[in-house]
Amino acid sequence: MFAAVTEVVTPDFETYRWAPIERVTGQPPMVRVHWADRVHLDCFSLWLYENTVAIDPVTRESTVDPFDLPDSSVLVEARVGLDGDLVVTWNGGTESHVHPGWLRSVADGEHVPEAVLGAPTIWNSSMGEPPTFDGAAVLDDDSVFEAWLTALVTHGLARLRNTPTNRDAMEQVGRRIGPIRGSNFGDVFTVEAIFDRADSLANTGGNLGQHADLPTRETPPGFQFLHCVENTVAGGASRMTDGLAVVERLRAEHGEHYEALTTLEWVFANRAKDGDHRWVGPMIDHGTQHSPLTMRAFYPVRLAPHMSPADVPRAYAAMRVFSAVAHDPDLMLSNRFEPGDLVGFDNRRILHGRDACDPGAGRRVLRGCYIDRDDVLSRLRVLRRRVTKGA
Ligand SMILES: [Fe+2]
Repeated sequence: MFAAVTEVVTPDFETYRWAPIERVTGQPPMVRVHWADRVHLDCFSLWLYENTVAIDPVTRESTVDPFDLPDSSVLVEARVGLDGDLVVTWNGGTESHVHPGWLRSVADGEHVPEAVLGAPTIWNSSMGEPPTFDGAAVLDDDSVFEAWLTALVTHGLARLRNTPTNRDAMEQVGRRIGPIRGSNFGDVFTVEAIFDRADSLANTGGNLGQHADLPTRETPPGFQFLHCVENTVAGGASRMTDGLAVVERLRAEHGEHYEALTTLEWVFANRAKDGDHRWVGPMIDHGTQHSPLTMRAFYPVRLAPHMSPADVPRAYAAMRVFSAVAHDPDLMLSNRFEPGDLVGFDNRRILHGRDACDPGAGRRVLRGCYIDRDDVLSRLRVLRRRVTKGA
């Protein structure tokens, strides 16, 4: 019935499936676009204006400052075009064609930042191993790359095996995703027991309790990646716990402690000799509707309670329970790093830790980096552009 008018420009670089409109109701300046499956979208005249005639065809960005927008009466008529697109007539008689697949993506909420995430897969020890993909394939096969990043955002944890075991492999894989987020540990850092020169508990051979890195920052790194270059030590297994499972357990079985963990704030500060980063917040921070869960569970950098003295005893009691749940073997994965393994995880959701190892009996060398959540999700959206969207 409809022939796609593929030359209709959209206000972005996405590829949309043609989703013909059935009818248009309402009166300008607010018209309602309907599809045959009863989905609809209300469109205001100036929003349509900004996303059609005001769009620069090269950058696909809107070019008109709000002060210079016309009156909302600029839209005279809106109707269904011969091809099922939306045809709008402007004051003065010119027309614009609006891609119905783009409108449908907005109606379906595919344009909001969290749409790329899908529903999270909350896991426990029964998962056994992290979702695992071939490291060599990730470097040159976009479909494997997309599958790895998809597992990374749904499970919060995904592993590559058989990546090169040289010290540059971490940076090579990281830069395929996006810009590496530097920190006081550098861009790509090394995790290895170096005793008296250690700048972090991570760089000793000691046990590391379940934690998430850099709660000392306004925005802790979204994702962390660790690549095993060498591992000949006994012990030192990597432990992972899904923070969403911890939250579920605390909420269901320890309501009072859960309330304390989500409301009572602590000051966090790193203790480097040449840096002093600080932030304040609760240990479990649910953020806002559009910001992710952030676990601030790194005791080496927890500085002081930021709460009434009367609340401090129950804050400590709640932390003890939090730690017990985070270390519950039923919720935890424990996997040894093999050379060539590269593990990525959501640093704000997943709690990670490490068994003690004896570095005197061998070497355990990991290379790691952080990449902001924005950049991981951006790469995933771009990888998915080859899959058309819309109804
Ligand atoms: Fe860590």
